Amino acid sequence: MHANIFAHRGASKDAPENTMAAFHLAYEQGADGIETDVHLTKDHIPVLMHDERINRTTNGAGYIKDYTLGQLQELNAGSWFSPEFARSRIISLEEFLEWIQDKPLYLNIELKNNNIDYNQLEHIVYDRILDYHLLHRTTLSTFNPTSVRRLKYLNRTIGVALLTSKRYKNIVTAAKDLGANAIHIKYRLLNQLLVDQCHQENIAIRVFTVNKPQHMLRSFSMGCNGIFTDVPEMAVRCRNQLND
Ligand code: G3P
Ligand code: MG
Repeated sequence: MHANIFAHRGASKDAPENTMAAFHLAYEQGADGIETDVHLTKDHIPVLMHDERINRTTNGAGYIKDYTLGQLQELNAGSWFSPEFARSRIISLEEFLEWIQDKPLYLNIELKNNNIDYNQLEHIVYDRILDYHLLHRTTLSTFNPTSVRRLKYLNRTIGVALLTSKRYKNIVTAAKDLGANAIHIKYRLLNQLLVDQCHQENIAIRVFTVNKPQHMLRSFSMGCNGIFTDVPEMAVRCRNQLND
C-alpha cells in the first residue's frame, strides 16, 4: 500500500512553518500533500498559523482573532526561524489555495478550533475550498469532535479526520459515530491492532509527527494511510527504501 507523505506545516524543519517558503520547499522535496493549520482573523478571514497567538512565530503579540488580515500581514513571520526568511509573512488560506491549485498535491487543512471555537470557521473554510474546486483532494481535520459533526452536516462527502493526541476508549467507534473518514493520531498511539481495526471499518489512519526514519518505516510497514512529517525529503527516501 502506498502511504501519503504530508509536509507538516510545510517542510517546517528547513523553513518557517506555515509560510509560502515552507510550502514551496515541501513541494520541491516530493511531499504528496501539505498539512496546514487555520484560524480566523478579526475580519473573519482564514489565515494559516499553528498557535492561536502570534507571539512564537512572528514579531507581533496577541491573538490572531484580535487583528485584521491587513494588520497581520505587516508582521515578519520568518526571522524567528532564521534571518534569511525575514521576508516571510502570514498568509491567508486563499493565497495557499491559489498556489496549490495547479500542483498535484493533497491538502490537509486542520481547523484550529479546539481552544477557540471560531464562529462559522467550518463554513468559511469549506466555501473557500469550493471556490477553488479542491474538495476532491482535501481532508479537513480537527481535534474538536463537535466540529467533525458540523463539517459532515455541511456536506457529508467532505473528507474529515478526527485528530487526537490522547488515548480514546475506542477511537475507531468514536470516529465512526461522528461520521469521520479518517483518524489522525499521535505517533505514540500507533499500533498494528488499531491500523487493522481502522481498515476493517474503512477508516483511514494517518500519524503525526513522524520525523525519525525508524518511525517512518514502522508507520509505512504497518499500513498507515499517511504520515505527517517536518522532513518530507527523509520520508520519501524511507518509502523508496521499503519499495525497493
Ligand atoms: O494535523 C496533524 C498535526 O498537525 C496535529 O497537531 O499541533 O501539530 O497541529 P499540531
Ligand atoms: Mg496541525
